[in-house]
Order: sequence, then C-alpha cells, then structure tokens
Amino acid sequence: MDLRVAEEYALAHTTEDSDIIKELIAVSEEDLEFTDMLSGRQVGRLLAILIKLSGAHRVLELGTFTGYSALTMAEALPRDGELFTCEYNKRYENIARTFFEKSEHGSKITLCMGKALETIPTIDGEFDFVFLDADKINYPSYYEMIQPRLTLGGIMVIDNVLWGGEVLEPSTDKAKAIDRLSKQIHRDKSVEQVMLTVRDGITVVRKKVKA
Ligand SMILES: C[S@@+](CC[C@H](N)C(=O)[O-])C[C@H]1O[C@@H](n2cnc3c(N)ncnc32)[C@H](O)[C@@H]1O
Repeated sequence: MDLRVAEEYALAHTTEDSDIIKELIAVSEEDLEFTDMLSGRQVGRLLAILIKLSGAHRVLELGTFTGYSALTMAEALPRDGELFTCEYNKRYENIARTFFEKSEHGSKITLCMGKALETIPTIDGEFDFVFLDADKINYPSYYEMIQPRLTLGGIMVIDNVLWGGEVLEPSTDKAKAIDRLSKQIHRDKSVEQVMLTVRDGITVVRKKVKA
C-alpha cells in the first residue's frame, strides 16, 4: 500500500480542526510562507484524544511555533486546565499570541519565551501531559529534565522520532540525538511506551512508576 495514499485516507476519516485552528493555519501559511513545522491534524487530533482519555489538567509543550498544537491541546483540556508552551523564536510569537487571545481556550495557555532549557526550570510543579516538539538536538536533555516531573500515569508524546527514516542509520547530530532518546526511553524501567509510525513517527510514553 502507498503510504501517502493511506495517510490521505486516514486524514479524510479524522475529525476536522476547529474553525479558529483552520484560521491559524491559513494565517501561518500567509505570513510565513512555510508551515512544515506545524505538527498537523493527525498528530493534533491524537494529542486531543490522549488529553481527554488521560484526564490531563497540566500540560507542558516544548516548541510552540505559531500555536497549532498548543491551541489544539488547550481546546481538549477541561475549563480549569493549564498549558505552558515554550518557544524561543519571536518571529512566531505574534501569530501564536493573536490566536491564543482570540480563542475562548487561550486563557489556559501561558507562552514562555526563551530557550526551553532555561524556561522549563522557571515553571513550577508537575505535568500530567507533555508534548516534546522543539529542537531535536536537545531531546535527550529535555527527557532527563522533564521525566522526573511527570506525574504517575502521566503521558509524554514525542514528535519526529523517525526523522524521515534517518534514525535507522543515524549520521547527523539530530538523528543521533533522536535515536539516543528512543534508546534512553526504551531502557527506562519507570515508563512504558509505544512508537507509532504516524507521520514522522510519534512515541507515546506513560509513566508507570514514580522514581
Ligand atoms: C516543529 S516546531 C513546533 C510545532 C508546533 N508544536 C506545532 O504543532 O505547530 C518546533 C519549534 O520549536 C522551536 N524551538 C527550537 N528550539 C527551541 C529552543 N531551544 N527553545 C524553545 N523553542 C525552540 C522552534 O522555533 C519551532 O517553532
């Protein structure tokens, strides 16, 4: 089966994004002329369903871009839910903030501007859901930093774990870092995980033992 055709079929049978999210995508395309960093509807709807299934209240996201996944997750959170999203590129901040302000779910979101390794320690408390989607080089450091702050039963979703297939024979620094993280997670006895071949690869990790 042609994977591209299968993906089109899967998308045709996947819940649509909300109108405001569709508008965010359109504005991102218009203003930036590239949206390939946006995680997309298959990942977005999966995040929304996982948040609802897990009953998550407190979410941390690394890698906001223009806010697609942040707003998608905020829509899925309960009224008293909170989402912290980390981004360092001011170029994307304006679009993200505009749509967070426009959405009725935007009040759940705190946008933390700065390098994630520096902003994560400024956010207090534990997280019951984490979406890792920032710079791939730092994936192993992010995991080490955040895994201890994941609640028991908490979920971490990691995007781009296949990195276009490069992880099979990693030769670049990014592919090596992603592969190192996947091996690190596989060795971690306090979690269970599944790597899905959805889009560019997604790993879903669940914390089963509090370290
Ligand atoms: C793949 S995009 C995120 C896409 C977003 N989650 C979505 O679905 O629309 C990765 C983002 O991480 C940001 N980023 C890269 N390195 C970072 C760092 N060290 N700290 C914070 N953000 C970073 C980039 O500027 C970029 O916007």
